[in-house]
Amino acid sequence: MIKVAPSILAADQLALGDEIRRVAEAGCDMVHIDVMDGHFVPNLSFGTDAVRRIDEAFPELFLDVHLMLDNPGRLIAAFAPHADSITVHAEVPEDVQHLLDAIHASGCRAGLSIKPDTPVAAIVPFLEKTDMVLVMTVEPGFGGQAFRWDMLNKIRELRRIGYAGQIQADGGVTLANLPALGQAGLDIAVMGTAIYRSQDLEGDIRKIHAL
Ligand code: DX5
Ligand code: ZN
Repeated sequence: MIKVAPSILAADQLALGDEIRRVAEAGCDMVHIDVMDGHFVPNLSFGTDAVRRIDEAFPELFLDVHLMLDNPGRLIAAFAPHADSITVHAEVPEDVQHLLDAIHASGCRAGLSIKPDTPVAAIVPFLEKTDMVLVMTVEPGFGGQAFRWDMLNKIRELRRIGYAGQIQADGGVTLANLPALGQAGLDIAVMGTAIYRSQDLEGDIRKIHAL
């Protein structure tokens, strides 16, 4: 079974509450919140208040917070009370081990993400402390980009070397590439455009769960 994490970056920002309720009622497993700083990626998105309000309005919902920040360390404490998992990038100029420890100490699950140009080898030293690896299947920053099929190899490699934690793919994920992702060893599909533009949300989520 593949779990579904709708990315609210693709939601109608004017109707965020309704957009989250819609995917929650349709059976999604968690909600993916992209946090961008305009430096690590050339875009801005959600901040700490947005995550706090989402948590207050949907206390039962698992909030999966993806930090695309140059300096995630100084914001972990602000996001943690309202997040269930926090993912940081391996490419940041901060000590990754320290970041993962700080996420765990705050009570959240710890995720580590790699951009398309970063090899799996770069995160091998941290895998034991990582509950989840997020493989970026596009260059981070924007929704609606084309899926990078060459990233499937990273998921296969993580399984080949015995990584037993959860693996997420983020960027351009659709029902068309999910069977291949599932075969490679994917656990969680982060989906923005494909979920928020779906004509049959419940049906699509059911299909993904069946993979
Ligand atoms: C990109 C974000 C993704 C994005 C995925 O930087 O991390 O979560 O919203 O959107 P789609 O599914 O539209 O590629
Ligand atoms: Zn993301």
